[in-house]
Amino acid sequence: MIISRPFELGQDQSSPNKNVFPITAELDELGRMMIGGCRLSNLAEIYGTPLYVIDEKTLRIACRAYKEALRNYYPAASLPLYASKANSSLAISNIVMSEGFGIDVVSEGELITALKAGMPGKNIVFHGNNKSSRELLLAYKNDVTIVIDNHHDIDQLNYIVNSTEKKARLILRLTPGIECHTHEYIRTGHLDSKFGFDLEDLDKTLVKLKNLHWANLIGLHAHIGSQIFELKPHQDLAEVMVSALHKAIEIGHPVTDLNIGGGLGIKYIDSDDPPSIANWVEKISKSIIDSCKKRNMDYPRLLCEPGRSIIATAGLTLYKLGSRKNIPGINKYVSVDGGMSDNPRPITYESTYTACLVDKPSAEPQESVNIVGKHCESGDILLKNYPLPNSSSGDVLGVFGTGAYNLSMSSNYNRIPRPASILVSNGNAELVQKRELPEDLLRYDILPDRFIAKG
Ligand code: LLP
Repeated sequence: MIISRPFELGQDQSSPNKNVFPITAELDELGRMMIGGCRLSNLAEIYGTPLYVIDEKTLRIACRAYKEALRNYYPAASLPLYASKANSSLAISNIVMSEGFGIDVVSEGELITALKAGMPGKNIVFHGNNKSSRELLLAYKNDVTIVIDNHHDIDQLNYIVNSTEKKARLILRLTPGIECHTHEYIRTGHLDSKFGFDLEDLDKTLVKLKNLHWANLIGLHAHIGSQIFELKPHQDLAEVMVSALHKAIEIGHPVTDLNIGGGLGIKYIDSDDPPSIANWVEKISKSIIDSCKKRNMDYPRLLCEPGRSIIATAGLTLYKLGSRKNIPGINKYVSVDGGMSDNPRPITYESTYTACLVDKPSAEPQESVNIVGKHCESGDILLKNYPLPNSSSGDVLGVFGTGAYNLSMSSNYNRIPRPASILVSNGNAELVQKRELPEDLLRYDILPDRFIAKG
């Protein structure tokens, strides 16, 4: 029985999100998989497993695809922002900045990472439905654009910046009431959402902001969801947002920016077929242009916030296979040395991935197995009923498309330390985040004196 055909490395060089593998994927003379000119099994040997690997070229090409498409299809100014919730680190922030991106952040941690990486405050957009006053102050002091998500944000800023000279640069987040087909938990633009202002409250909120001397409203924002393959919802969004922008201008706000969020999907498995980055930008641009023309408006500066489509395909995770359990006629379990703590997406969203034994990616599958993690949780299954060639303990397994929402959503469940992250490029590998050690996990533990045996 053929369970699945072996891997092909057919790559769309212009839009990484349309590939399962990083665009530098190739096989060496012995058929072993290489990424960024580095043999994956060799990286596992040197850096240990589990290991997050990021292919710099794939990351840069995704950034360039957005920049180029904006240049080609949008006739006015634009600024793509990398949604750093997908994977936040100094190295990644630095790379996206060098490609002309700004950054979207949602916490003090992501904000200080972007600032430390050298990102100017004016190119940082700060989101969040429950920002602390400390976070708001930090953003304000660094000239970061603050996304007003609710009245609590306005009240807190009123307190923080009321008596100062400098105005706060603001973007107002709206809930545009647009449905899209993705996992229920990752839809954010429909009406029953914790994020943003309902369109019904737009006028009132715009007037409220107009009357605050410290508020400088420069634009509007909406984000409708993530891992979206349809283009229609974003086209509809453009029309809704241009109409809202028109209203803001009528009320007297000097708005220039339209931020349409992120959301473009990626190919995790063979049957996924997302639009290309160019296609996504082209359709949205056209919709904005048409909507502006209809209203005789100047084109706004176009901001977008891709996360997954920038970094997911650049990333992969290496594991070593360990124990195996065969339950005749029922199931086969093959364990890896990581799991739900380094990739919580399968257990959280039933997400699917593509994987292979990196030293024989083209070998014919011989059996169907559950590839499971090492955590004390039966649901800790990374890949269900997955076709695998003959394998042995110690073989290195690569799971692809893990660059987004893996490290950033990782945990220390079972006190398992986080993997290291390395960046590969032109045959070189560089450590960009150290592996946590079990001892690191004790660093905030305090044993009260009364528990320490005396004498
Ligand atoms: N902008 C805002 C305001 C967002 O909330 C998000 C994602 C993005 C941009 C980036 O969206 P992307 O281009 O990455 O689709 N943990 C989930 C994904 C949650 C996305 C949350 N917001 C997952 O693992 O699939």
